[in-house]
Amino acid sequence: MKAAVYYENGPPDVLKYEDVPDPQCHPKGIVIRVEAVAIEGGDTLNRFGGPLMTHPHVVGYQAAGEVIEVGSEVTNHKVGDKVCTTGGWGSHAELRAVSAKTAWKVPNGLSTKEAAVIPVTFGTADDCLFEFGRLKAGEVALIQAGASGVGVAAIQLAAKAGASMVIATASSDERLEKLKALGMTHGINYKTHDVVEEVMRITNKKGADVVVDSVGGATLQGSILSLAYRGRVSSVGQAGRDRQKMDLSTLMGGNRTISGVFLGAEINTDRVQKSITSLIDRVAKGELKVLIDREFPLSEAAAAHAYIESRAAVGRVLLIP
Ligand SMILES: NC(=O)c1ccc[n+]([C@@H]2O[C@H](COP(=O)([O-])OP(=O)(O)OC[C@H]3O[C@@H](n4cnc5c(N)ncnc54)[C@H](OP(=O)(O)O)[C@@H]3O)[C@@H](O)[C@H]2O)c1
Repeated sequence: MKAAVYYENGPPDVLKYEDVPDPQCHPKGIVIRVEAVAIEGGDTLNRFGGPLMTHPHVVGYQAAGEVIEVGSEVTNHKVGDKVCTTGGWGSHAELRAVSAKTAWKVPNGLSTKEAAVIPVTFGTADDCLFEFGRLKAGEVALIQAGASGVGVAAIQLAAKAGASMVIATASSDERLEKLKALGMTHGINYKTHDVVEEVMRITNKKGADVVVDSVGGATLQGSILSLAYRGRVSSVGQAGRDRQKMDLSTLMGGNRTISGVFLGAEINTDRVQKSITSLIDRVAKGELKVLIDREFPLSEAAAAHAYIESRAAVGRVLLIP
């Protein structure tokens, strides 16, 4: 099969388009013919500095397509089904082998392009807001990097859950503008405004009850300082690639909490399996929207990664084999 591979970590142009052996089907797994790859923030970070688990490495968490092979112990999928999948690597390819547990049927009416985006992106946003953030109707949500894949999902989920305000941050006014239709009530351009000051101004000094922070570093410190009394931060990523440490003592005075969130650690649990199934249904019904910014052919994976790193994308960028 053809795949986008790399032999060493580095900038987008380490990605090459090459022939590699077809993946093997595990007895508890399936193989799909990939129709759409959703490039995750974690894919660009892994290309930049993550471990190479295969050689050459085929990076990538999320892809959707048609089942072409089913392992001998698998009972919940059959050849011909359309599924969306997630796994530790291997999405940037024409064929992908994954565990049958991390493959979900694509309901009628939902395209494989939309479905490819859902499991990790929406599942993570949901866990950040509700499982770990304990967001309730009437509370204020702050979504850092609102134009990111996780951000676009979190804005919608918080708005649908009845948050009194859904505040989002982004690096430009143009990016924020596109988030209004998703349920963002207040946007903060962090290039021109101080996020903590703005959150306190907008909330009349109360602060945010729940913050979803996928950026880390100095942004994470700002998330803590933006919290209301008893507010909760879900720290879910390092998109900013900034290792600045935070001051934990800033949590104490306001009885504030920070939780680390890693969906992958619980993706095989019944709780997360049901959560992702429900999120797929909600997108299929039109209650939640998948925002696809742009598509590239798989052969142009390097250009697609470079486009994402230019910070132009709002929502997801897809690769099409
Ligand atoms: N723990 C988990 O289970 C889990 C699951 C999914 C994702 N994640 C993590 O969450 C993070 C975001 O993922 P995603 O898929 O939402 O990412 P994404 O769609 O690629 O978006 C990342 C966003 O971060 C912002 N950003 C801030 N500083 C940046 C920098 N120095 N370089 C690049 N972007 C920067 C950019 O928006 P602005 O330009 O508007 O600032 C960008 O749109 C990643 O670190 C990913 O690994 C974790």
